Amino acid sequence: MFKQSFKYYKSKNPPPNLDNVLDLNKSNDLTEFQIKKVSIKCEERKKMFGFKHPKTWEVYEIVDTPGSLLFIRNPFTSIGQRYWTVKCLQDYSKKPNKTNIDAFNLVPENKEWWEMCQNNNNVLLMNKLRWVTLGYHHNWDTKVYSEEDKGKFPKDLSDMTLYVASILGYTNFSPEAAIVNYYHMDSTLSGHTDHSEKDLEAPLFSFSFGQTAIFLLGGNTKDDKPTPIFIRSGDMVVMSKESRLAYHGVPKILQIDSRYWDPIDENDLCYIGKDYREVVNICKDDALWKPFGDYLTYSRININVRQVLSRGQKRLNSEDAEDVT
Ligand code: OGA
Ligand code: MN
Repeated sequence: MFKQSFKYYKSKNPPPNLDNVLDLNKSNDLTEFQIKKVSIKCEERKKMFGFKHPKTWEVYEIVDTPGSLLFIRNPFTSIGQRYWTVKCLQDYSKKPNKTNIDAFNLVPENKEWWEMCQNNNNVLLMNKLRWVTLGYHHNWDTKVYSEEDKGKFPKDLSDMTLYVASILGYTNFSPEAAIVNYYHMDSTLSGHTDHSEKDLEAPLFSFSFGQTAIFLLGGNTKDDKPTPIFIRSGDMVVMSKESRLAYHGVPKILQIDSRYWDPIDENDLCYIGKDYREVVNICKDDALWKPFGDYLTYSRININVRQVLSRGQKRLNSEDAEDVT
């Protein structure tokens, strides 16, 4: 069933009918058998850079799925969307973070990918980047994390995820690994479950920017019929417990977004800590922002942040590796 749906939504010719895709922008048309509104305790919460005030957040639980999957409808301000886009393209893509293009030796030791793409308007090189891993590096073959294969987890991404986690009531979450996926109009992500992390109770936070994805959310086996859901720029998905073990994937990217990252509202420019200023200066300058905005018009960026260690654990040991396989 999962495969069939995947093929259906992936198809170019004929293109899929999108009438049955769950659309949280039209939450009023959805029933209690599809979504449940979740209230969050946030009166005393401070606003954080890049986010709308949490009292305005729309948080939904997707009902017909194992465990609990939360969908938060774009809580980011446009400057927030721009900030994370710039970070993913210009900064997280740098060494020593790992990327899929490392293997091709396309970027000389003293150069950086984004800079090279810009200098020669190298669209081919630009489209080659498909993923970056941060913190404990995801091992795509073995799916096992190790203490020997670990980089620094970015402070800003850690602070942002901890803020979201605290608002949603996950007070013990610790961001330790992230995968950034870069999708273009013909990219897909096939059905999988996220089971590499030891503590499956810990939530997995997923942030998306750019073009719209059709996200397929299935059940515990590939025989369950999946629910298709639109994920738009700024939307956030949180998977925990059994929902991490539900098959999911992205069969299609649709170029249908209005530009959620425009225009910049003056209120967006408050609460900027000094560490953020340099990148914010790029975001608010039309000429400097342009190459990033251009990239987003035919791409989607998805950051997903995971906890690797169990609560109280300081480091991985080799027995853990054996456990996970
Ligand atoms: C993943 C994933 C989904 C997305 O990287 O594990 O499921 O929305 N990404 O891109
Ligand atoms: Mn996943």
